[in-house]
Amino acid sequence: MSDRPLKELRKNLSAHFCLVPFTTIILEPDGKVGICRNKGDNFPIGHIKDRPFDDLWDIRNSPKAQQWRQEFLDNTPVICHHEVNYRKCHLEYGFNTLADHAELSAKQQGKILRLTANLNGQCNLRCPFCTVWQSPNGNYTEENFWAPARISLFPYLKEIDMLGGEPFIQADTFKLIKEVSNLNPDCQWFFTTNMAWSLSSKVEELLNLIDVKILTVSIDSLVPETYGILRPPAKLPIILRNLEKIVNYNETRKKPFKIAINSLFQKLNWQELPEVVRFTIKNNFALNPILLRVPASSSLLDYSESEKKKILDYYFEKIDSKDLKLITPVIIPLIEELQPIDKAYYYQILRNY
Ligand SMILES: C[S@@+](CC[C@H](N)C(=O)[O-])C[C@H]1O[C@@H](n2cnc3c(N)ncnc32)[C@H](O)[C@@H]1O
Ligand code: SF4
Repeated sequence: MSDRPLKELRKNLSAHFCLVPFTTIILEPDGKVGICRNKGDNFPIGHIKDRPFDDLWDIRNSPKAQQWRQEFLDNTPVICHHEVNYRKCHLEYGFNTLADHAELSAKQQGKILRLTANLNGQCNLRCPFCTVWQSPNGNYTEENFWAPARISLFPYLKEIDMLGGEPFIQADTFKLIKEVSNLNPDCQWFFTTNMAWSLSSKVEELLNLIDVKILTVSIDSLVPETYGILRPPAKLPIILRNLEKIVNYNETRKKPFKIAINSLFQKLNWQELPEVVRFTIKNNFALNPILLRVPASSSLLDYSESEKKKILDYYFEKIDSKDLKLITPVIIPLIEELQPIDKAYYYQILRNY
């Protein structure tokens, strides 16, 4: 990842252009092939299971994938209308680092630049809002994945993004680190983890082999009881200890990585957003606040209009005005569901800050 500012990376792109469909391929545990992690695991452009690995290049140019790219090239995104207008994930730094390398055409001819390797669903937690831990394991074998990928994929990747399940309990993660660091030492790595594992010398040695750019830790609550309900069977004090160990290790690295916090807000924990903002600022972590949409019954979007306004008023009161830009992924979708007069009122407040 270059350390150039986002504005410079995006200087030739229109305001609503997203690079992800031009850079990324996601391999899901059940063989689905995706393009963007923010579309969830149920938005495939094709399926690789029971097909030769080299079919990945056809799947990458499936009609759906080409349409997705064409919409961005025409500056009329429909598939990602919601994302570019409200979530604004196309402006996340990590989604723009490959700006200089992306092939900006609907049909891709070059190499795959970024792999999101969700090879297995295996997880040590059972979060009630997540279905990933129920996904299969073991579908990617030496024959159908590792052997062909060593030739046509690993040597050319510029970035690898590990989501899982839980990447740090999966043998395939460690195997991937060993293989890619050997074939392609310049590849840059991104991890998302529940931190429900403790850094061992073995994992430390593996991390020392690679250029880790961002380690994202999912912490949805800083209240032990709430954390315990959202992330069973993990315990918050242990997670915070594990995180501290990672912070200490990071200080010993030649090239330290950025630490980010993913925090998923829903009915059970919405009051905690101001505290999470303070926690991340105090520790110099980046913050990715996410508004839970599925399951719909747990989502803040399920609340009545007056309850949504109560939540917004609470955030505007408790969060320092200079930090409001950090929480737009949570507040904009709430504002968008209000009546026009209320919508105008809250946008006006936002504009004034
Ligand atoms: C599926 S997890 C896998 C990585 C790791 N196990 C973790 O929890 O960070 C990746 C991210 O997806 C988020 N996630 C899980 N279920 C979600 C849902 N229903 N809606 C939005 N994000 C979700 C998690 O909070 C986490 O930050
Ligand atoms: S820790 Fe991550 S993958 Fe595991 S159940 Fe929770 S959100 Fe899903």
